[in-house]
Amino acid sequence: MSETRAISTPDALLAIALPIARAAAETARRMRAEAITDVQTKSTTTDVVTAADRAVERQVIDSLRSARPGDTVLGEEYGEAAAPGPGAVRWILDPIDGTVNYLYGLPQYAVSLAAEVDGVVRAGVVINAATGDEWTATLGGGAWRDGRRLRCSERTELAQSLVGTGFGYDAKRRAHQGAVLAQLITQVRDIRRFGAAALDLCAVGEGLLDAYFEKGLNPWDHAAGGLIAAEAGAIVAGLAGAPPGLDMVVAAPSAVFTPLHDLLVELDAAGGA
Ligand code: IPD
Ligand code: CA
Ligand code: CA
Repeated sequence: MSETRAISTPDALLAIALPIARAAAETARRMRAEAITDVQTKSTTTDVVTAADRAVERQVIDSLRSARPGDTVLGEEYGEAAAPGPGAVRWILDPIDGTVNYLYGLPQYAVSLAAEVDGVVRAGVVINAATGDEWTATLGGGAWRDGRRLRCSERTELAQSLVGTGFGYDAKRRAHQGAVLAQLITQVRDIRRFGAAALDLCAVGEGLLDAYFEKGLNPWDHAAGGLIAAEAGAIVAGLAGAPPGLDMVVAAPSAVFTPLHDLLVELDAAGGA
């Protein structure tokens, strides 16, 4: 038992995650170079999954199972085999975040892998599979890129903030998200939509975006990137004290978080479909 605890420290979990995520990113990159195959749709006609999404997820699950047979894995494509018990590690995986970018060859898609214990993310890695860029974080140990410790932006005014966001795949949800954005865009510096939530959160951690928000994210979209943004000093939360989740994920430096949060509440950004 004590041995299991010892190897579930944030550093130990990151050490396991990193080579597995690197190999996964290499598989995604190689499969795209060879050919995109077996493109199928999921929740809507624009929500796609490719053979690579499935192959990468299988590869990561197999690697984690052989490295850590007692852990559970929640992956986007195959779900979760078993609920984690108290104190157990749950790995949270998006095999390819930014699948539409992957389909089009836009170099903004990533493997996202996080390790969570009792609902708290302890370690996370996000790798842009197109460029090889890597972001990592451990709980209490900071966020890092290429040996450089990351700090989020020091922006203090929402009106001066560059804000990232994203949209769901469902047309009704998008209609509401578009209406919210039409109001919000007049109150910020500008808006960016890059198409991969995990990378958007890393961009907040790195100060490439001042802030980010999105409704409808699943744990695999925000678990690793959320820790990276938070360890870089951003507040990462939902609305009205809720944790980040399906209703809303907001990531911003503290001075920008409150006005952005309050505007999102005013615009009912967590509402709609
Ligand atoms: C999507 C991307 C996108 C975000 C969507 C996600 P997927 O993930 O992160 O940026 O706006 O909400 O579903 O489908 O490419 O893994
Ligand atoms: Ca995703
Ligand atoms: Ca995905």
